[in-house]
This record gives sequence, structure tokens and C-alpha cells, in this order.
Amino acid sequence: MKYLCDLLSIKYPIIQGGMGNISNAQLTAAVSNAGGLGTIGCGTMRPEQVEEIIVETKEKTSHSFALNIPINVSSYTKDLIQLVLKHDIPVVSLSAGNPAPYIKVLHEHGIKVIVVVASVKHAQKAEEAGADVLVAEGFEAAGINSNLELTTFTLIPQISRNVKVPVVAAGGIGDGRGLAAALALGASGVQLGTRLIATQEAPFHSAYKQRLINATDNETTILGRSVGQVRRVLKSSYASEVIESERNGIDLEKYQEMTSEKYHLKGAIQGDEDNGFMNSGQVAGLIETIPPVKDLFDSMMNEAAAQLEQQLNQFVMPSGT
Ligand SMILES: Cc1cc2nc3c(=O)[nH]c(=O)nc-3n(C[C@H](O)[C@H](O)[C@H](O)COP(=O)(O)O)c2cc1C
Repeated sequence: MKYLCDLLSIKYPIIQGGMGNISNAQLTAAVSNAGGLGTIGCGTMRPEQVEEIIVETKEKTSHSFALNIPINVSSYTKDLIQLVLKHDIPVVSLSAGNPAPYIKVLHEHGIKVIVVVASVKHAQKAEEAGADVLVAEGFEAAGINSNLELTTFTLIPQISRNVKVPVVAAGGIGDGRGLAAALALGASGVQLGTRLIATQEAPFHSAYKQRLINATDNETTILGRSVGQVRRVLKSSYASEVIESERNGIDLEKYQEMTSEKYHLKGAIQGDEDNGFMNSGQVAGLIETIPPVKDLFDSMMNEAAAQLEQQLNQFVMPSGT
């Protein structure tokens, strides 16, 4: 845990997951100022748009932050790498594609590389390619997911014992107990997506935040299984429309059109659940408050420490040890 924090120059072992097109300067800076690693999610944005957010983020924080580039989702991966070099961004998180072609140039400039993975094989390949940190993301997580459908609880210990670099757990973590569980499973830290939506600084529509507050344990559904592109979202009339279209046999192109950025922004930013979708992880059911990011992180750290201590005190050790 200390090694991860030193490596990424952060106080707490908490990373903001990339949130394509919508994690703005305010949220990124709030996460970094609160002791975590803020992340600008490039999504499908043009480099000029991302550059504006980088400049604004630097005005709001002097702490380290990252850029998330979803390799196969973005049409500008190479340009975004150049932007990272131009602005001396200290950490890059690469997801949704093969990171190998980009790691060498980033390392030549002293930039740390996080790679998001969802299986042991994928983790080993990313480590071989030079990743400094692996984010292991389970199927509980919000948004685009691996169609292997492996869960965080099983993925973290399996990946941790097969690689040497620090592993960060993503998917299903929303409080200090989740953080403690991830550490107990062998992770060095956690990456949050869903929990950060329901914070004061998050740029999402209040209806989206309220859906998370009201959520039960069975609030999310999966889109895209029929076309092999899995995405976890909140149940809604629009989500049902997509699922119905899948039942009627839409192809990948039509599915991608129905889940394009336009419909993501309609749901997440405009709060329009009838005409757009809202990404969410299964952890939604745990969320009860909309705190400032700093309060969330402080309480997660305190709760994790208390939880780990309490568990240890309750252990009955086998005799003879
Ligand atoms: C609104 C939203 C958008 C996301 N977009 C991206 C993305 O562009 N790139 C990416 O690697 N992950 C993306 N994710 C996944 C998060 O980075 C994170 O790994 C995941 O949400 C962690 O699981 P949790 O939601 O259970 O906390 C997104 C998540 C959310 C909630």
C-alpha cells in the first residue's frame, strides 16, 4: 500500500476510475486534493477538449493526477499520448485495448503507467509489456466491462499471486470495509467509479445521484451481451429499450449507436432516463450519502483501519501458533 502511494505520489491508496467524457476538472482535482489520484477520463473526446480540462485541473490542484485513455474507444490515442508528454502528466491509465505500443514512450518520459485488466492472462501480458500498476476490474463494476464476467472477489487474489507489480481492486468498492476487503485479498489499493458519482464535486445530474441514493442491491442490469460488448448500467426505461432491441436481434453497429456517448450524456448529465443511460456498478445499493470527496476518503480510510483491527482482534488463532 505504501509502495503504491509512493509510486503514484498520493496519500491514500484510492484512484478515481476514468469516466469517459464526464470526469471534469472539478472532480479530478477534488480527488487529488483529497489525497487520492484524480483521473481525467478521455473517453471519445477530441484532444483539444481534453487539453482544456488538463489546464483547468492544473489550476485547481498542485497534486498528481492521471489521464485515462480507453485505447480502442478513442480515435485519438496517439494524439492523447502526445498531450500527456506536452503537459507532463505524471500517470496514464490505459484501458480497453492493447497497452504495449504506448508504454515505452511513456516510460522514457518518466510517466507511470496503470493498465486496467480483467483476467490473470491479461494481467500477465500487461506486466510483461511494462505496466507499473494493474487495476483489476471485476464484473460488479460500472460501465464497459469484460465479457469474461469475473468478479472482484475472485479476481484480486488470483491476479495478485501471479504478478509482481501492485494490483488495485476495482468493482464493488464503496466504503472503508470494501477497501479493507480489497487489501485483505492482496490489493494495494482501490479504484472507485460508482461511489464517486454520488459526491458533491461530481458533475453528474442530481437525478443520477438520487438514483444511487435510492438504489437497492438489484438496481443494475447488463447491456450488450448479445453482441459481446458488456456494459453495466442502472435499470431504466431506456436500458429496457436497448435490451428489447437486443432480443429483436440488433447487430453490433446498431447496439453501439444506441449506447454511444450521446445517450450516455443524456442519462448522466441531463438526468434523462427515458432517452439515455446511466452507468452504475452493483455497489449502488450501498450508497446513502452525497459527501464532499475529502469526507468520503477520510471516512473510508478510518473505517478500513478500524475494520482491519477489529477483525484481527476477533481471530481465534489455531493452538500452537
Ligand atoms: C460514469 C462512468 C464512466 C466510466 N467510463 C470509463 C472509461 O472511460 N474508461 C475506463 O477505463 N473505465 C470507465 N469506467 C469504469 C471506472 O473507471 C471504474 O473502474 C469502475 O467504475 C469501478 O467499479 P465501481 O463502479 O464498482 O466502483 C466508468 C465508470 C463510470 C461510473
